[in-house]
Amino acid sequence: MTTSRGHYYAGLQQIAAVANAGLTLRRTCNAVAKIIAVSMDMTGCRVLLLNTKKDYLTTVGSFGLSDLYLRKGPLDARKSLPEVLEGRIAVVQHAPTDARVQHPEVAESQHVVTIVAAPIVRKPDMVGEVRAYSRQPRTLSELDEDFLRSAANVCAVLFERAELSQFRDRVKKSCAKRATAALPAQMPPTSLKPTEFAHESEAEFASLLDFYQIEWLYEPRSFPLAWNGDGISLMFTPDFYLPELDMYIELTTMKQDLITQKNRKVRKLREMYPDINVRLLTRKDFARLLSKYGYGPQGDAKVEGVGRVLYSQTQIQRRVRSLARRISRDYAGQRIVMIGVLKGVVCFMSDLMQHISIPVRVDYMDISHYGGDGEIVKITRDLDAPIVGEHVLMVEDIVDTGMTLNYVLAHLASHKPATLRVCSLLDRTPRRLANVKLDYVGFEIPDEFVVGYGLDYKDEYRNLPFIGILKQD
Ligand code: PRP
Repeated sequence: MTTSRGHYYAGLQQIAAVANAGLTLRRTCNAVAKIIAVSMDMTGCRVLLLNTKKDYLTTVGSFGLSDLYLRKGPLDARKSLPEVLEGRIAVVQHAPTDARVQHPEVAESQHVVTIVAAPIVRKPDMVGEVRAYSRQPRTLSELDEDFLRSAANVCAVLFERAELSQFRDRVKKSCAKRATAALPAQMPPTSLKPTEFAHESEAEFASLLDFYQIEWLYEPRSFPLAWNGDGISLMFTPDFYLPELDMYIELTTMKQDLITQKNRKVRKLREMYPDINVRLLTRKDFARLLSKYGYGPQGDAKVEGVGRVLYSQTQIQRRVRSLARRISRDYAGQRIVMIGVLKGVVCFMSDLMQHISIPVRVDYMDISHYGGDGEIVKITRDLDAPIVGEHVLMVEDIVDTGMTLNYVLAHLASHKPATLRVCSLLDRTPRRLANVKLDYVGFEIPDEFVVGYGLDYKDEYRNLPFIGILKQD
């Protein structure tokens, strides 16, 4: 089919009408994708958003593409048609064999032959891409390219408008929050997240990740788990992918019998895709995670004091002395800078440093908490002195999700210490999300709510000389 100027004019007219129809970003982009595909006589099309770090592309709207194609995995902007990142139009003549295509096997299974892509530019920045797909070989005329670029320009305006309206929503939410002390705002402050979550808990989890500045993609990949003849009979799409941690997360906050099904799928996924790191968070896991920040069903749990002692004062002191001996041996002949994140670390830091036999300098940092005033984590107290070229030992009372440490270590590493190691008194691995390396660990503990020896529950119990498990109502 040859496309004429008049034909494309009609297409742009339709795009302009849809853009002005007051629909959500996703619905507008779905409609724009359809108009592009139909106008260009292509099989399908999608509108993609580039994340703020400019490394991943997420689908905002699509038309004519299978679920498997849309969720074939995170789209790495530098690996997949990288020339588009530089502002150029890309044409792939044969997707299954083109080196610029990141998932050629999926292109082949879905019979995608030609891919054309145009950058979405909001000057001076690249903010996304429009990609159209065809099952037939295609070349692009100058007119085709002009149309694709014009459609992409409209998408840039759509993104900008959505960002502005999110900003307005955030202002509204933060006013409401101040008035009612409600949940933290769901939208991140620096990037456009057009995601429509299936559940409130997913939005909440996303905003927690945003707080700790952990990049996430929502449902970017579907894993076929069973086939029926030529077709796929069972697929599994984990809710989140965290690219920096290379981890998929499935959030299951629903009924117990469905959890059993989910467990089965996760087990199957692990068997069939052994390289994939997937983590299932149950309702209980998630409630415990949120309770730490004072949210969720356990956020207001009544406690009836300490139920039992997990580690006595004597056990703690013995372990602290043994850690101090190891540290003194490992750093023999050197000076270290011990850095603690306030406040939980105070007891451990104070005891540990007294038993270290090499020269020590001590410094403290403090960071804002999730659900507080800001929407992203901030350093509220920074180091007193520079650490360039120093041997830094980061000291923690407890590592749970690892998100605090992940953030603080990145901050410290940017100050170029000679070495950077971590010592944590407690390690609660069942809650781990960010896989940070701990060099010295006092005790590995179960997934229980612990207090004492610096650790608090709503700012109480820090002064206990032992570590105990809270008795919850
Ligand atoms: C605790 C602890 C760590 C952090 C670890 O601090 O001191 O810094 O949690 O948790 P994560 O691995 O899940 O990020 P908390 O936020 O309770 O503040 P506090 O030390 O002032 O009590």
